[in-house]
Amino acid sequence: MTPRKILVTSALPYANGAIHLGHLVEYIQTDIWVRFQKMRGNECWYVCADDTHGTPIMLRAEKEGITPEALIARVHQEHSRDFAGFHVAFDNYYSTHSDETRFYSEDIYGKLKAAGLIEVRSIQQYYDPVKAMFLPDRFIKGECPKCGAKDQYGDACESCGAAYAPTELKDPYSAVSGAVPVLRESDHYFFKLSDPRCQIFLREWTRRGSLQTEASNKLQEWLGAADENKLTDWDISRDAPYFGFEIPGAPGKFFYVWLDAPIGYMGSFRNLCDRKGMDFDEYWKPDSTTELYHFIGKDILYFHALFWPAELKHAGYRTPTNVFAHGFLTVDGSKMSKSRGTFITAESYLQQGLNPEWLRYYFAAKLNGTMEDLDLNLDDFTSRVNSDLVGKYINIASRSANFIAKHFEGKLLDEHVEDRFRISLPELMPAADEIAGYYEARDFGRAIRRIMALADHVNQYVDQHQPWKLAKHGGQERELHVVCTTLVNAFRLLTLYLKPVLPKLAQRAEEFLNIAPLHWNDARHVLPPAHLINGYEHLMQRIDPKQIAALVAANQESLAPAATPAAVPPAPTFAAAAEPHSPQRHAQHQQHTEDQTQAQVSPWEPFISIDDFSKVDLRIARIADAKHVEGADKLIQLTLELGGETRNVFAGIKSAYDPATLIGRLTVMVANLAPRKMKFGLSEGMVLAASDTDGKSPGLFLLSPDSGAQPGMRVK
Ligand code: MSP
Ligand code: ZN
Repeated sequence: MTPRKILVTSALPYANGAIHLGHLVEYIQTDIWVRFQKMRGNECWYVCADDTHGTPIMLRAEKEGITPEALIARVHQEHSRDFAGFHVAFDNYYSTHSDETRFYSEDIYGKLKAAGLIEVRSIQQYYDPVKAMFLPDRFIKGECPKCGAKDQYGDACESCGAAYAPTELKDPYSAVSGAVPVLRESDHYFFKLSDPRCQIFLREWTRRGSLQTEASNKLQEWLGAADENKLTDWDISRDAPYFGFEIPGAPGKFFYVWLDAPIGYMGSFRNLCDRKGMDFDEYWKPDSTTELYHFIGKDILYFHALFWPAELKHAGYRTPTNVFAHGFLTVDGSKMSKSRGTFITAESYLQQGLNPEWLRYYFAAKLNGTMEDLDLNLDDFTSRVNSDLVGKYINIASRSANFIAKHFEGKLLDEHVEDRFRISLPELMPAADEIAGYYEARDFGRAIRRIMALADHVNQYVDQHQPWKLAKHGGQERELHVVCTTLVNAFRLLTLYLKPVLPKLAQRAEEFLNIAPLHWNDARHVLPPAHLINGYEHLMQRIDPKQIAALVAANQESLAPAATPAAVPPAPTFAAAAEPHSPQRHAQHQQHTEDQTQAQVSPWEPFISIDDFSKVDLRIARIADAKHVEGADKLIQLTLELGGETRNVFAGIKSAYDPATLIGRLTVMVANLAPRKMKFGLSEGMVLAASDTDGKSPGLFLLSPDSGAQPGMRVK
């Protein structure tokens, strides 16, 4: 078979937020698929980039006092670090703020314009007269027109769920400056999706049969019946000030972020081609025989399955072979939540010392190639990894390797064992094609179930032959050698089948097995006679449930300790769209995805309600004891008396206080902060101290109550 040529993308993450476990569903899913294709011997390229343009990024950079370029450079590093940490192996991780993406944006725009598919129209939009800029919906706040809730965003009410246009808000104000916005006219550029050419093409494109069922249903709904024209034109421009690419021949007008974002796929691939001397056109010309797949979340299906193919088609490029949409991640059955500690960033997962391959395995076990949401149940996570991955698979190696080392000097049986192997474990080798089929169809859950069923067979074989008994009684050395050789071969095959999911583990297993990197075809044979293996070192630890508790505690949003301001600004809560957006809601959605991440620019926002504040249980505490912590240069260990109860707290105040001077004094503590496991022990709360967050004037100042306050009193 000639190898296929495949180009694969994941959606480009916004450059103004941290990567979290929800994102990772997508990047891990794509990475598994790509690794599988590469193992099959196909030429497969995986490209991605940061999505760097738009108003939120511009405003955020301004707020941080840096240029947007500096902001996106920093985030690019953070994202690259997080992806590498989870073994997501892009062939190129680029940026939409690049010459290549600019080139293709201008090129596609120019061709659409020449085809008569671009139109200029004047629209009315809210304008911030103080900040002198047009306001995206998410930057306008006011009273909900339906329920009257205050401080709601311009697109939807978080209190009653109503969706509306920003002009419907009562008493609107700009979230940027606080000013009352005014309606202003401005010329905008539109891509004429309602043009009959787009209609005809998209009806045909969406009916090719290879689309996911749910996606195909959604698309038919968006397109409407054959005699309807439900597609509306798409506003692709924004007015200055804006961080993005200026539209050629239209000074002060910029391409809207969603225009250049998918074009970033081309930009990233172009950059890769130039570096590797590959032919870009082979992959993008209209009659290309290569394959092109976009992995995306269901919230951005409209962009990828309607706008994007229509744009490509009418600009003279090939269209995607398919778009693979996945559902949203929930944790323990609910939307990820900062207050529950389930809005977990990739960085914190790794920092807490959790193994990234645990998560890859769990996601794989749960992914089935549909648009259904996927739940990370933290108990199930622990038990599946421990009982299946470690208990069933890793154990096979640990149960056989030591005998090979001790009794046979690391050598397998000096005989051709394939026939014997096929009789002892009849399903193991033939399963390769079936498992490959599941990977190809992105039904990773099925692949994992099949592999674990095979591991069960192998463990039954172990129990039947009891190598530990064979090793004890003399005279059964040959039988022991046969059994252990079978087990090492079985372990090798299971490793091969799991390799797309567990690349790092597979690499270590290959070292242990003393073999070249496994390819899918290697499932057709067993190890040669007298093959020498290396000494076994334990390949994977079990999850300790305490690690999960610590992870949740570390992600629980709380008042950051004054002494250690958070290094990374908190990631935004993503309003996980339960439903792919309908065309009706689409206008709002465009703004929504652009703006959701950084709507607040006033230093005091987001405001909290009195209810939020009263969740924090502040108490007077007496410092009963204070000690240095060995090996910690910032911490003092405090024993706090709360009136009947004592707490152990590690406070980052060593630079300002000598422990001896603290003993006996009263201070204020957060009494209901989730306990946090630290290197030195459990910290059960936090004391409050003032400091200059800019770090300009050094010093830390512990709070004290007026005299008369008693330990345990509530502070309100
Ligand atoms: N920048 C756009 C995509 C442009 S593609 C040309 C964007 N960025 S994003 O950072 O918000 O999301 C990136 C990807 O992660 C999207 O496919 C999105 O669906 C996915 N996810 C973000 N949060 C998610 C979950 N909670 N669960 C699963 N996937 C999620 O959209
Ligand atoms: Zn409302």
